[in-house]
Amino acid sequence: MISRYVYGQPLETGAVVMTIPKSSQEISILHMQRQKEFLTLSCQMDDEDIVYGLGEQVRGINKRGFTYISYATDDPNHTENKHSLYAGHNFLILSRKKQPSFGIFIDYPGKVIFNVGETKRNELHISAGSDCTVYIIEGECLTDIARQFRELTGRSYIAPKWAFGYQQSRWGYQCEDDIRRVVDGYHSRKIPLDAVYLDIDYMDHFKDFTIDNDRFPDFSGFTDSMKNQGVHLVPIIDAGVKIEKDYPVYEEGVQNNYFCKDEDGRDFVGAVWPGKSHFPDFFNSRARAWFGHKYKWLMDQGIEGFWNDMNEPALFYSEKRLERIMDEILTMKNENLDLHSFYQLTGKIDSLSNNPDDHKSFYHDFDGIKVRHDKVHNLYGFYMTKAASEAFDQIAPDKRTLLFSRSSYIGMHRYGGIWTGDNASWWSHLLLSIQQMPALNLCGILYTGSDIGGFGCDATPDLMLRWLEFGIFTPLMRNHAALGTREQEVYQFEQLEDYRNIIRIRYGLLPYIYSEYMKSALNNEMYFRPLAFDFPQDSHAARVEDQLMVGESIMIAPIYTQNATGRYVYLPEDMLMVRMKSLEDKIYRVMQTGHHYIDAALNEVVFFVRKNHMLPLAVLNDDIRSTADLQLLHNVISQRKDAQEITAEDVMHTAASIYEWIGYAQDYAEYTLYDDDGISKNYTPQQKWIKVVKSKESLNVCIS
Ligand code: GLC
Repeated sequence: MISRYVYGQPLETGAVVMTIPKSSQEISILHMQRQKEFLTLSCQMDDEDIVYGLGEQVRGINKRGFTYISYATDDPNHTENKHSLYAGHNFLILSRKKQPSFGIFIDYPGKVIFNVGETKRNELHISAGSDCTVYIIEGECLTDIARQFRELTGRSYIAPKWAFGYQQSRWGYQCEDDIRRVVDGYHSRKIPLDAVYLDIDYMDHFKDFTIDNDRFPDFSGFTDSMKNQGVHLVPIIDAGVKIEKDYPVYEEGVQNNYFCKDEDGRDFVGAVWPGKSHFPDFFNSRARAWFGHKYKWLMDQGIEGFWNDMNEPALFYSEKRLERIMDEILTMKNENLDLHSFYQLTGKIDSLSNNPDDHKSFYHDFDGIKVRHDKVHNLYGFYMTKAASEAFDQIAPDKRTLLFSRSSYIGMHRYGGIWTGDNASWWSHLLLSIQQMPALNLCGILYTGSDIGGFGCDATPDLMLRWLEFGIFTPLMRNHAALGTREQEVYQFEQLEDYRNIIRIRYGLLPYIYSEYMKSALNNEMYFRPLAFDFPQDSHAARVEDQLMVGESIMIAPIYTQNATGRYVYLPEDMLMVRMKSLEDKIYRVMQTGHHYIDAALNEVVFFVRKNHMLPLAVLNDDIRSTADLQLLHNVISQRKDAQEITAEDVMHTAASIYEWIGYAQDYAEYTLYDDDGISKNYTPQQKWIKVVKSKESLNVCIS
């Protein structure tokens, strides 16, 4: 049951898609106080209660014991003392033992503070702006509450199938030759690859919707030649638009009032990569349509995927603040800087970037309503992504386009995915990434992953391997690194065979990963889940912070510590342990419920299959280069000469025969396999849902 409480006059954020009548009663499950500027909600927690959610945040799966602030921030240091990352995901579930659990969504796009028992151990304290909508979701169990929230906020974005392949990125690929070298680096070593990313270097002076013609002299020809090799190019689009006379995006934006305004009604000036820039007012539907249609220019040159960046929005400085700080610094020029004055100086410089006070100095035209940016800050990245997605629906209505964003708010999951931003090549960030995944899924964001190997700092060979061993399960599997860090393409490491084998395991798992992703999206389920969602009665499972359920059949227990040759794993039920050094080198062992120490060599993928469940594994030949070369059910069926006349029975038999099935069944195991062309948006026809049943003795396949 979902109850909606409205306070003051909240803005329509677009987070929800369902119409829930306004509750006529007072909120009872939490204590509410409304003052002029703030609304606070609080409730008691018992010692054993657990708080799940809050999406992209620091710290563990259970959020208790810290304060989290929803205020999108361009901060590349994701250390555990931070309170905000790039998003505003204001949804949590309070899982209670003695009383019914409930979910709470604060639909407020400005700053929201969640003190989850930091100040008072057993008190949850939430504070938001006084004009906001609060949704309380009650349900039978955690899974039911999560599903209702997803119904409330709408179906998750579905990426094209190629975007489930392995992808390589780096800030610093400068030209066609750099990219050719990367593709060749993979292909010559027979490592599959589906996409290479174009970071800001592809643009002419970091101007959106431009290409540096010296470095990319024939962009559409280049895009085509890459696609012929199975590789998609994915360019970055930044939020800031360079101020430069005769640059059409700038000129059109100024002429039509498409940019955010300062308090005097002039176009707000802040700086990002290209220097002084204006910021499209994505809150305005006309500006949104205008910016969204700009992507077409790249799509016309063969591009089928984009990543939206710097859309918190990131600000190196605002013009006005820079002027003031420069003047202040100049007064210090001839001073003998001591302890205090020296730190004053560095403090002044630090205060330039991403200063929240600058958010109070510009405004949006929210389709006729003037709104100060800080009041709607968390929606900016969402609306940038919505701009692109709405335009794609017109430019390429029948086709899926890859789209993901750095900043987001609840509801953006309908338009695209996210990546978790500028992490570092640290073991602690591998763990953080594992813990972020279920929290993001709970908030609807299914197409997600972290920069594999870490963005900042230098990845060590062992970290890279362990990260890949987890990354093969994330829908977005992208290796990305920052300018100035060591080269991180997997072929840059010794013992290449290990890296190759792990990436090939991803392609082997692809029928399962894709099927589970699609089922989660279409049925409003979570692809990654904390164990407690599947084993609600098990008090050990509820405490596990470093194992995840992945789809309906798999549990993973990744290794995230240096020099570990194994780890403790908790099995909530008997499971089949699968250890793989490669698709060909697999060991199986049935293990009993309980605590175990599991060995896992550095080059070994280990996962567990649930009892009476199974999963398909694609059989790969040595030469596969991308998802397009995989023997997947849809490809196999559609390539048959008699494709028109294929019966349901044929489909079942094909499904059963083209994959290797890994499962563990006392009597029988069954699995519902979903597959489609991976391109079109026609998701529902029955023949795409194949129920495969397998017993020890025989293989039975039947249509569900
Ligand atoms: C931001 C992005 C990062 C990108 C860089 C340069 O830091 O988060 O992924 O590589 O900008 O565009």
